[in-house]
Amino acid sequence: MLRVLHLTDPHLFADPGGDFRDTVTYESLSSVLAHYRNSDWFADLVVVTGDLIQDGSTGAYEQFRQLLGDLDLPIHCLPGNHDVRSKMRETLSAPPFFYCDSVEHSNWLIAGIDSCVTGQAGGLVSAQELARLDGMIADSAASHIMICLHHPPVAVGSKWLDLVGLENSDEFLDRISTTGVVRLVVFGHVHQPYDDVHGDIRIIGTPSTCRQFAQKSDEFAVDDKPPAYRRISLHADGHYDCELVWVDHD
Ligand SMILES: [Fe+2]
Repeated sequence: MLRVLHLTDPHLFADPGGDFRDTVTYESLSSVLAHYRNSDWFADLVVVTGDLIQDGSTGAYEQFRQLLGDLDLPIHCLPGNHDVRSKMRETLSAPPFFYCDSVEHSNWLIAGIDSCVTGQAGGLVSAQELARLDGMIADSAASHIMICLHHPPVAVGSKWLDLVGLENSDEFLDRISTTGVVRLVVFGHVHQPYDDVHGDIRIIGTPSTCRQFAQKSDEFAVDDKPPAYRRISLHADGHYDCELVWVDHD
């Protein structure tokens, strides 16, 4: 079995007092990590699906590296639209951090995809990334695949968010459906929970480790739900357990 701690959208600042919509993001991520540490569930690795930082600074990535590095786990990081790829790659490419990487364990391949378009809030899985995904799948002996990316490959029913979703979501879903081995897709970006299926593929969005956005809202609106993370347990026979955990945070 492979247990994955899914974190997303921490939106850190170089200044640990920095806030995103009135949530001090360093503190809320610290609360999430403390909840995980104090629980009786242990991960084998961490996947972080983008928007690691908010202020475009290398210092914010250093805050991320310090907070996550303490977990003593492999940390697989993907960029979101608020990330700066060059700074992120520079700060988070040495173990225990992995940038846009894949990992194979317990008959599962976890494949990280870059869905970002420089200068845009919305995303796209480029032809190059689709080809890289094909290559990862072809090179893998795993029978089951979990794909991780920042942008949702589905509409979430919120007009403003769906305008900055994944531009080629249909193409992406068609492509991964034909593989017959993709079981799960996990994403961030929308700062709210999502859990549905597309054919045989389960599609899961995890809320942010900081401020959430209101669900089903036509206009931008924040929510008062607390920070969250998700526990994903992948079994070698292809079944999996997913649990969304909300973290009380003052
Ligand atoms: Fe975000």
